[in-house]
Amino acid sequence: MVSTRADIRTIAEQVVRDRRHLHMHPELGFQEHQTSRFIADRLRALGIDTRAPIAETGVMGILRGRAPGKTVLLRADIDALPIDEENDVPYRSTVPGVMHACGHDGHTAILLSAAEILASRRDALRGAIVFAFQPCEERPPGGAQAMIAQGVMDDPKVDAVFGLHLSQELPVGTVAARPGPIMAAADMFRLEIAGRGGHAARPHECVDTALVAAQVMVALHAVVAREVNPLEPAVITVGQIQAGTAPNVIPDSALLRGTVRTFDPDLRQVLARRVEEVATSVATAMRATCRCTYEWGYPAVINEETQTAFVANIARQAVGETQVVTRDQSMGGEDFAYFLQRAPGCFFNVGTRNDSRGLVWGHHHPRFDIDEAALPVGVEMFVRLTEAYLARD
Ligand code: NI
Repeated sequence: MVSTRADIRTIAEQVVRDRRHLHMHPELGFQEHQTSRFIADRLRALGIDTRAPIAETGVMGILRGRAPGKTVLLRADIDALPIDEENDVPYRSTVPGVMHACGHDGHTAILLSAAEILASRRDALRGAIVFAFQPCEERPPGGAQAMIAQGVMDDPKVDAVFGLHLSQELPVGTVAARPGPIMAAADMFRLEIAGRGGHAARPHECVDTALVAAQVMVALHAVVAREVNPLEPAVITVGQIQAGTAPNVIPDSALLRGTVRTFDPDLRQVLARRVEEVATSVATAMRATCRCTYEWGYPAVINEETQTAFVANIARQAVGETQVVTRDQSMGGEDFAYFLQRAPGCFFNVGTRNDSRGLVWGHHHPRFDIDEAALPVGVEMFVRLTEAYLARD
């Protein structure tokens, strides 16, 4: 059997070529038609059982080894963002206003190359590998739930799930894993405040919704500060506030929109209730009304301990002891959480940052770009962990 290193060297150019192709042709969530076709064609050419489309624009591949055994699911998200790329590179986005600014082009290219190497070694494998190319990670409700609802984890029944995210916070050459909650539950709320508009010089005849919105906003910020254990991570952010059309008119309505981030499922429920209670009570106290719409987003990403230790061990083999780090927790959201709710596994990070080459811009920035030397690292991680997992009894 060829060594993993030798196989990685043979796909090193291809994984970069694939990433650049995808980078030039980005598509938004649930619109990834070309991307989906590109993936499905490649999987079929490798002799992998391919189901496409699944969950609108997703692709599922199943690779079975020579004998029965466990099943591993590997996931890549495939969608881009509504951002106009500002990089001047040969592989710049060809679609105005759409850009792979989070690295999902890299995730897709990595999983395609991992599939190719694993397919070439299928006779040495026991069990099965499910390749889940998931649409629409960036925008709730996301594609993960839909893929799971359409059976991506059922036949064959998945025993463990693994996914990776490229990270500009980590230097290229590093891999990071962390057990337990690593990314937050990300919910949204919408508060529609209704009062009575009128002349700015006659406030006593009005119910001023601009002022109510301001009080609601201040009161909401006291919830985390005064009601949540300071050792427990939580965020309430009001990111949007709208009221009024003129400086001399009291507006009769106002709109606040925001997000709530938590790790703890009980605290998540408490904050959902408190956002509504605080907003409606403050509005009532000020003679206005408030209608709260709470949208449940992705749950927290919680890495299972044994699988995370396993991934860290594989990372030490792939990049060496000193290049394996423990990542920080983040209040960002990620719908890989749904896969982890159904099977134990680990979501890990592969570093892409390179200060000396100026590859320093963060995810979702119009100048986001990665050090592509990270791509073969991602391939090696997927190949090694899959083979090691399936070889176990
Ligand atoms: Ni992302």
